[in-house]
Amino acid sequence: MRIGVLCSGGDAPGMNACLRAIVRAAVCTGDEVVGIMHGYQGIFDEEFYTRTDAEKRFGSTSGLGMRSVSGLSKQGGTVLYSSRCQRFTTAEGRQEAAAILRKYGFDALLPIGGNGTLSGALELGKVWDGQIIGLPGTIDNDLLGTDATIGFATAVNTAVEAVDKLRDTAGSHSLMFLVEVMGRHCGDIALYTAIASGAELVCVPEIPTDVNHLVANLKRIKQLGKTSVMMIVAEGDDLGDAMCIQEKLKEAGNPFESRVVVLGHTQRGGSPVPADRILASELGCFAVDSLHRNETGKMAGILGGALTLTPLEECVRGHRQITTEKLHLLQVIAG
Ligand code: F6P
Repeated sequence: MRIGVLCSGGDAPGMNACLRAIVRAAVCTGDEVVGIMHGYQGIFDEEFYTRTDAEKRFGSTSGLGMRSVSGLSKQGGTVLYSSRCQRFTTAEGRQEAAAILRKYGFDALLPIGGNGTLSGALELGKVWDGQIIGLPGTIDNDLLGTDATIGFATAVNTAVEAVDKLRDTAGSHSLMFLVEVMGRHCGDIALYTAIASGAELVCVPEIPTDVNHLVANLKRIKQLGKTSVMMIVAEGDDLGDAMCIQEKLKEAGNPFESRVVVLGHTQRGGSPVPADRILASELGCFAVDSLHRNETGKMAGILGGALTLTPLEECVRGHRQITTEKLHLLQVIAG
């Protein structure tokens, strides 16, 4: 079986570990894995990657081998590169991509990415008869069909390290920090970061943010003797970004002097933490195994500790939301 692997959309720590697992599993089952460069764009450009044979372009050469992916589990980013490909979002584009996949004799495709990547995979499956198993690769943890996405744990780790450092300065200067983290649709990065770093407040897209309620809380915190405050803001909050919220809090009488820090793309980089390496390895092997069980049109994920396949249409139907249990936990421990 000739299996194509690509990474599309925002990169996530652990994508390389996933590629490594796919290749290693495929070597065991006697399959050929070909990397497709720059996401779906690489199909149009016919830019394929086999690291064997001095990184030759794909032709009659064999696919990636065991050694081709050595050392990849600890590497951040994606060696296959990524992109957000406009051409693939059109029906004509996907027809064209299907024809190219046929031309090169691909039997299966394993796209690693988030909602956009998997939506594209779902549409491709309607015009291409190869097998497709998607893998959840996004720091946002916003995909239905899995409790955790590849890259989420590392992004939280990065954010917590940053908040720990900011807390030192907040304490020294009696400041409030509004720390903006990623998460357009799901507040998981914000919520997990808040719990782990001991932040007092969190703003998430799933819950409307009430400025007056926040200011009342800040006044109460001040009266209790707190001199510094950390508030974690998900980029997708309904009230706006952290700058905007800072302004609104000031207008409503925030008793703390505040600063804004936007963590931005630092959350997408870095060596994956063990949890992401393990998840990526499990899902990569499971995806290859699923192809051998003739599965297609599904996403490999982990639900309640078990490896599962969920139809792509169910995974992209909406966005995963924060759990009320975790929100309640924050409310209790943040007082
Ligand atoms: O989807 C992952 C993500 O990191 C989002 O949280 C963020 O909004 C977006 O990507 C930023 O993407 P880019 O700057 O690469 O377009």
